[in-house]
Amino acid sequence: MKRYTTFILVGIIILLAAVLTGVLVFMKNQPAQERAILPQIVEVKPMEPDSSIWGQNFPNQWSTFQQTKDNNIKTTYGGSEKFSHLAEDPRQIILFAGYPFSKDYNEERGHMNSLIDVRATKRLNLTPGDPKETHATCYSCKSSDNPALWQKLGLEGFDSMMFPEMTPDITNPIGCANCHEAGTMRLIVTNPSLENALKAQGKDWKTFTRQEMRTVVCANCHVEYYFVGDKKILTFPWANGTRIDQIIDYYDNINFKDWDYPGTGTPMLKAQHPEYEMYTADSTHFKAGVACADCHMPYVRDGAAKFSSHDVHSPLLNPQQACGQCHTDVDYVVGRVNEIQNQVFTTKQSTEDALIDAITAIQAAAADPNADASLLDQARQLHRKAQFMWDFVSAENSMGFHNPEYILKILADSTNYARQAQMLAAQSVNDPALLETGIYDKMDPKPTPAP
Ligand code: HEC
Ligand code: HEC
Ligand code: HEC
Ligand code: HEC
Repeated sequence: MKRYTTFILVGIIILLAAVLTGVLVFMKNQPAQERAILPQIVEVKPMEPDSSIWGQNFPNQWSTFQQTKDNNIKTTYGGSEKFSHLAEDPRQIILFAGYPFSKDYNEERGHMNSLIDVRATKRLNLTPGDPKETHATCYSCKSSDNPALWQKLGLEGFDSMMFPEMTPDITNPIGCANCHEAGTMRLIVTNPSLENALKAQGKDWKTFTRQEMRTVVCANCHVEYYFVGDKKILTFPWANGTRIDQIIDYYDNINFKDWDYPGTGTPMLKAQHPEYEMYTADSTHFKAGVACADCHMPYVRDGAAKFSSHDVHSPLLNPQQACGQCHTDVDYVVGRVNEIQNQVFTTKQSTEDALIDAITAIQAAAADPNADASLLDQARQLHRKAQFMWDFVSAENSMGFHNPEYILKILADSTNYARQAQMLAAQSVNDPALLETGIYDKMDPKPTPAP
């Protein structure tokens, strides 16, 4: 009997040891996210805006996050130096005529500079009472104070405030609370406009996989958006889908315009920074299940610790970490990036030339009282569409890399529509001179002066 008990005891001990080993092995193989939440030194309150408090629990994530403040290296087409896109490519001054982007359009920088940069842009309109006065909506993707403010004020309450009125409540740049739930450290959707946009498509982010969240969390901010009504409610135009033609249909159906182009009378659309829409339009990497965070937040090591680098920037500055986890020949893939970006950049400039010809021809035709109004109007519609398509590529920050085939197709279509617009404008006044290329350069005086 005693021997029997010993057997059972030894059996139980072996079983327990096996279970414990199993649990340890399981935990070790768990994604860092689930592991790292175990030791938390301080309790972080929900939606805590101050990242340094979260940082006491997660010093590696916090210290890499802070590096985004001082990054300043430029890559060929991106990087963290605040260069002017207008100085680099003055065609854009003509393309954005009549709109604040013609005054100030700088390269974006690291996440911790978000507040400094939004407050410094000359695109802000701070004239009290001006119908175009900038709303607090422009803080939507700039601060870790937002999640708590959205909860307190609601989306409408937040967006209907004016920018300066909101300024005292916004003291922190982008931070942990924009992407994580305190305590669990789960990745979450924090921007109510993203939640609404997903809902409009019948999607609920709470059912998304962890890998999907590693992309969707960036869509809190890196997306196309517009402002609805006088309260300037932040809205993503995704109800029909996130492809370029679906977005154009959406805007056309509600007759939305951002501004009227001077001299042509075209109701224009301004594209924002549609990295999410571009990347998820079945790019090679997206189809292969790769997430934004795979390239922009690769795992790094500090001694024994392995964690996601929160120093988000151009992957061309650390391709070994960013691409080397999946690609053995890193020099080759970086070479491909250069090739793709150079091709997209030169193609994009040809599109700009076509757009400027279209604009110049429409301006000349619109100044002629005998112009055929119907042809002229068709020309305007094509100009609107062509320029939005060009801008969708131009404002997207990867210079084509996120989805090369799709992006080159959009540029090809855009150039085609711009040339059609030019032809229709020439036809509307029966003036073959307006069919020539480079007509802007031949005009004296210039219809839209480039400063
Ligand atoms: C396969 C790797 C990869 C994936 C996945 C990826 N990117 Fe990129 N991203 C790049 C590369 C390469 C560039 C070009 C950087 C440059 O020109 O310096 C870039 C550029 C950018 C830039 C501009 C950076 C700069 O330096 O100006 C932003 C912003 C960006 N990506 C956001 C995203 C978002 C958001 C997603 C997901 C929707 C995403 N990326 C997915 C590789 C990737
Ligand atoms: C722009 C969004 C974003 C911000 C801001 C952000 N994180 Fe993360 N964080 C991520 C992503 C994406 C991951 C990867 C999660 C995964 O793989 O499931 C991550 C992972 C983590 C993890 C899990 C362990 C790891 O390294 O993979 C911790 C802990 C963490 N972040 C802490 C922080 C802290 C602390 C801050 C603020 C200083 C912060 N994060 C800010 C997006 C963000
Ligand atoms: C809360 C809004 C927000 C979220 C969430 C967010 N970003 Fe950003 N991101 C910004 C803003 C705003 C800037 C530009 C800041 C500036 O120019 O001062 C930026 C800049 C960048 C840059 C350029 C950095 C540089 O040094 O040039 C990259 C790359 C980038 N984000 C990638 C990502 C990725 C990948 C994710 C998801 C893991 C993400 N962002 C999530 C708002 C956000
Ligand atoms: C998480 C894994 C992963 C990461 C990280 C990654 N890639 Fe890829 N990449 C893939 C997969 C999968 C493919 C599909 C083709 C294949 O199986 O090789 C691919 C394909 C490519 C291609 C060929 C594209 C095509 O259309 O044929 C290029 C170029 C490329 N990657 C560049 C990069 C660069 C540059 C980086 C870093 C900024 C990077 N990749 C990071 C997984 C990755």
